[in-house]
Amino acid sequence: MSILFTPITVGSLTVPNRFVRSATHDYMSDDEGHVRDAGVALFARLAEGEVGLIVTGHANVQPSGKASPRQMGVYDDRFVAGLARIPEAVHRFPSKVFLQIAHAGRQTKERDCGSVPVSPSAVYDPVSKVMPRELASEEVRTLIDDFVSAAVRARSAGFDGVQLHAAHGYLLSSFLSPHTNRRTDEWGGPVENRARPLLEILRGVKIACGRDFPVMVKLNSTDFLPGGLTLDDAVRVAVMLEADGIDAIEVSGGMAEAGRGSVWPGLRSEPEEGYFVENAARIKRAVRVPVSGLGGIRTLAVAERAVRDGLVDLISLSRPLIRDPFLVKHFREGLAAKSECSSCNKCFNPRGIRCAELRKR
Ligand SMILES: Cc1cc2nc3c(=O)[nH]c(=O)nc-3n(C[C@H](O)[C@H](O)[C@H](O)COP(=O)(O)O)c2cc1C
Ligand code: SF4
Repeated sequence: MSILFTPITVGSLTVPNRFVRSATHDYMSDDEGHVRDAGVALFARLAEGEVGLIVTGHANVQPSGKASPRQMGVYDDRFVAGLARIPEAVHRFPSKVFLQIAHAGRQTKERDCGSVPVSPSAVYDPVSKVMPRELASEEVRTLIDDFVSAAVRARSAGFDGVQLHAAHGYLLSSFLSPHTNRRTDEWGGPVENRARPLLEILRGVKIACGRDFPVMVKLNSTDFLPGGLTLDDAVRVAVMLEADGIDAIEVSGGMAEAGRGSVWPGLRSEPEEGYFVENAARIKRAVRVPVSGLGGIRTLAVAERAVRDGLVDLISLSRPLIRDPFLVKHFREGLAAKSECSSCNKCFNPRGIRCAELRKR
């Protein structure tokens, strides 16, 4: 039997197979951030499609952390009832579901987040064309508390765990990056300081939600920017996270400003699938917790090799599951050996993610 269809333990949780639906903002919430029927139906399909661990799109932990319209909010108790519909739908199947909790930092606009975007340091963002406001030290403390409160809401909504978004240049990732974090206080400078907000959030969640409430992180392994986060530093962050109780690490990379994020366009040959898997393997060698690899993985045999050869423990997919939420089931049943997703990136649809190529047909 394929190792991909064997269970794996993530903290206190047993995930039924090795497939992770990597966090994917679905643009399906209402303007305020409440979950709507379309979003619930999407998660039900992913669970029916046998994805072992489903991670939601990013949910903002503060109003100022909203990245784009129709994003899920988790910054207030009034969102809990709507959020609870997601685990309720997923748990009709063996799948598990984590809420990704996030703050957009400087990668947003005032019209979306309602205030001047914030950042560890006032470093201009050429993509959003924003000069962010530097967070005061006490505001970093509030940010940590708000991440912890968001995790408590996720737990009370029935999620199996949370994923902390520390990738792609969003706020926690921009704390890790020496390019965007030029602070000289306890939150900047050496990597131990740049990782401090993330580590304090992790410790806070473990205290508030219990040690058995799983916490995963999506971690940048590189920013692709001169003066940005290096893989060596990412490995050190992973080791510190493990020491503080992280239950799993999903390895990604990129920053909008670098012109290269996590969602690379264009199909790759099989040997080039999994563009962050090598970095994930490097991190996996330094920790014992499960590590998930991602980036343009489309072929079942590639996924199988990555896990069987011990490069990673889990395989994360985003666009292939937009193309076909039943892909994992189809893999298992032998009905598919490769995703039909062409990585054209036309699924970013502000009226709700969908495969544009499929609609054309
Ligand atoms: C429409 C869309 C929305 C995404 N939203 C998120 C998100 O909310 N949080 C996140 O960490 N990554 C997000 N990603 C990145 C994916 O999780 C993943 O890292 C990336 O697409 C590479 O994997 P893939 O080649 O399997 O698509 C998004 C990707 C897409 C295509
Ligand atoms: S539009 Fe369809 S084919 Fe193109 S990247 Fe998105 S899911 Fe893949």
